[in-house]
Amino acid sequence: MFEERKPDVDYGLLVGVTLTAADTWQIQDYLKELKLLAQTAGIEVHDTITQNRDSIDATYFIGEGKAETVAKIVDEQDLNVVIFDDDLSPAQVRNLEKLMDARVMDRSGLILLIFQQHARTREAKTQVELARLEYLLPRLTRRWTHLERQVGGIGVRAGMGETQIEIDRRLIRDKIAKLKDELEKMEKQRDVRRDARTDEYRVSLVGYTNAGKSTLMNQMADERVLVQDQLFATLDTTVRSVSLRDSHKILLSDTVGFIRKLPHQLVASFRSTLGEVREADLLLKIVDISHPKYADHLETVDEVLQDMNALEIPSITVFNKIDLVEDENMLAKVRREYPDAVLISAARDIRVNEVVDQIVAKKEQEYVEDEVTLSVKFGDKIAALHEHADVISKEYENTSVHITYKAHKNEISKIRKMILSG
Ligand code: GTP
Repeated sequence: MFEERKPDVDYGLLVGVTLTAADTWQIQDYLKELKLLAQTAGIEVHDTITQNRDSIDATYFIGEGKAETVAKIVDEQDLNVVIFDDDLSPAQVRNLEKLMDARVMDRSGLILLIFQQHARTREAKTQVELARLEYLLPRLTRRWTHLERQVGGIGVRAGMGETQIEIDRRLIRDKIAKLKDELEKMEKQRDVRRDARTDEYRVSLVGYTNAGKSTLMNQMADERVLVQDQLFATLDTTVRSVSLRDSHKILLSDTVGFIRKLPHQLVASFRSTLGEVREADLLLKIVDISHPKYADHLETVDEVLQDMNALEIPSITVFNKIDLVEDENMLAKVRREYPDAVLISAARDIRVNEVVDQIVAKKEQEYVEDEVTLSVKFGDKIAALHEHADVISKEYENTSVHITYKAHKNEISKIRKMILSG
């Protein structure tokens, strides 16, 4: 025992495996990110171990000798959790746990744990719980540390026997079916709410976790949403109605952050929350340019978007946190490589206006022209038209006025209803 241990903290060891030469220089970055994830989950990382291999070991993922070394470190340093950067098969988890006196988890398990800790609303909690149980089902073992008990809530207990595992499997299956039912109902309600807004221009913020999406949302919406220097601070979609310049109303949504190897159970169960992204007219891809791996982050974002069939949606790439980059050459290089991107600092409000300009420009690309004839006595309706659309011309004839205007294609029917009714 090295120091006084806190009862509610888990102490961990990280394990990374490199299979190709390319991985060798990547692994340290991957493990750094894994460490940040572990810290976010409340796990104190005491040690890190890596291994180069030609292929994955079917029994232990790492070689047997290395697995024994890990078991020895766990014992010597009195650790209670070992986290692998890659996905482990349920059998590998079981074999490793037989070898060492610690809970073994992989990257997906860790991400699920964080999502669980951060879920606030009923929908987010249900989505995460479903993803977690689907992940847990094939992995149910006899080892239950406080990590699981803390997230249990389905009657699982420490040190249970095989029969108990069978009972718990059945309980979990029943719970999964129930959660799916509940989610389906919530999804229907969400669809109704979304349908009611199809006449708005919708902009969705997407990006790697911690890129600054919530900060940018706050800058543009002039309203506070949670900003934390923590991974996955936002799990729920926040939607705000925002006025950009005169006559440019948009619906802006902030949603869950993406990360390398986002567990597929999570993507699937967040389908409804992420629906906001799929239904958007425009995506703002926020990238933390001060992160050494920003290009990889952008690639991950595109991969998740592809998984969601959202890659075809028009987008603007926004490099954020330029205040943290001192190297002017680097900024120049990014400008050359991404000529259409905007470089900003959301926190310091540097060039956020350019993002607004680009949104307005993209929206205007989808403007269509329309004409209406109104009686001149409807001054309030003519004023409303000025407020909600770009009026191109007005021709007065006796007691009526013929107006030609432009507005976004989604908005035309709403505008017509507003000025021609009553
Ligand atoms: P997730 O909820 O994990 O998806 O994060 P997010 O993308 O919503 O990031 P968020 O806005 O919560 O910001 C993450 C951290 O980056 C916070 O500590 C912000 O204060 C910080 N941050 C955001 N924008 C900037 C910026 O322009 N410059 C600097 N220096 N920090 C920033």
